[in-house]
Amino acid sequence: MAVDLLLGLQWGDEGKGKIVDVLTKNYDIIARFQGGPNAGHTLEFDGIKHVLHTIPSGIFHENSINLVGNGVVIDPVIFKKELQNLDKFNLDYKKKLFISRKAHLILPTHRLLDAASEASKGKAKIGSTLKGIGPTYMDKTGRNGIRVGDTELSDWKEKYRALANKHEAMIAFYNVDIQYNLKELEAEFFSAVKTLKELTFIDSEEYLHQAQKAGKTILAEGAQGSLLDIDFGTYPYVTSSNTTAAGACTGLGVAPGKINEVFGIFKAYTTRVGSGPFPTELFDDYGKTMGKVGNEFGATTGRPRRCGWLDLVALKYAVQVNGVTQLMMMKGDVLSGFDKLKVCTAYKYKGETITHLPYNIEEENVQPIYTELPGWKEDLTKMNNASQFPKALNDYIDFLEEALEVPIKIVSVGPDRTQTIHR
Ligand code: IMP
Repeated sequence: MAVDLLLGLQWGDEGKGKIVDVLTKNYDIIARFQGGPNAGHTLEFDGIKHVLHTIPSGIFHENSINLVGNGVVIDPVIFKKELQNLDKFNLDYKKKLFISRKAHLILPTHRLLDAASEASKGKAKIGSTLKGIGPTYMDKTGRNGIRVGDTELSDWKEKYRALANKHEAMIAFYNVDIQYNLKELEAEFFSAVKTLKELTFIDSEEYLHQAQKAGKTILAEGAQGSLLDIDFGTYPYVTSSNTTAAGACTGLGVAPGKINEVFGIFKAYTTRVGSGPFPTELFDDYGKTMGKVGNEFGATTGRPRRCGWLDLVALKYAVQVNGVTQLMMMKGDVLSGFDKLKVCTAYKYKGETITHLPYNIEEENVQPIYTELPGWKEDLTKMNNASQFPKALNDYIDFLEEALEVPIKIVSVGPDRTQTIHR
């Protein structure tokens, strides 16, 4: 069986948690392949809101196995809190949550290093979630990291000590005011590792290989979004992993030829948290309304998200880089009541009009060129069939499909599982 992918196409927060939750009933295995607790996947059903950070969004479905792949970085302390939250729901998660031995661990000093690095950058700071993601991936590629499988070896605490000592020297080097009590942080960390070890650690690439051979259906769940990809995003204002389709191959050990559907998720408008360029950002009442109606606050940090019109230049780029086969448009309901809608279809770049994403998309380099479309007044949140959609919404969807050359198969009209319309 092939593997399907689900990816965010913008700067994250597109609503992947909800869609994975909606799709999971079709899959035997849900696998996270990159990122870590910088992600916040929100799921809403039965009137309750759930936020997951590292655990795949299929955990609430009875029959799916959930796998944290080798490409993910795990903070045992946050992971333990996530497990404790699940305890409330009486889920037998130990039977259906597996961890790759090759996933890297976020140490307490990685979090401190993240804070020190950001503090040292002043105005140029990335706007990191400060979860230690960057420093952990740096240790991974620097070949110094500690992996989940290491915790099964007798000498891992020595390896830990050596790395933590090195980190402390690095924190001092930054020469910024970071207060911490490492003893307390370490006590919490080692207790959380103990909890983590109660779960099943596996050689996940082998597990997935066998699962494919046995005909199991697999969904790879991405975190963040394509424009935060370490290679293809708005560098350096990006996260430290490959959030694009190729990341699923390296983050799970799935061969490229085994990828089947690539589900690309985008919001009907655009948001971004943290720093970095955002050509269609709005500072007027339209942007404020999107933020307010869309409840645009980070699920991990609570920070308000920056809002703007849909950027088709950037979205088309993401569709291309990922090879998206089906699109899913989220938060269509948020745009109800706008007297007009704008979609960025090109950029003015160095005096020319271009329709591809150039190397620099900062304000001084690109100005968005918009096409204006009529808005709709109807409340979409109670609709349950695409035949109920107002004409202006259908026109908006048709316009996007034509430009992106990929069908929009799902339109989400509210946060609940049930507010999901298939076309
Ligand atoms: P980091 O991954 O925590 O280092 O953050 C790097 C950048 O990615 C910052 O701009 C964050 O706000 C952004 N970021 C990281 N994770 C997410 C996410 O799940 N949603 C949206 N933005 C994110």
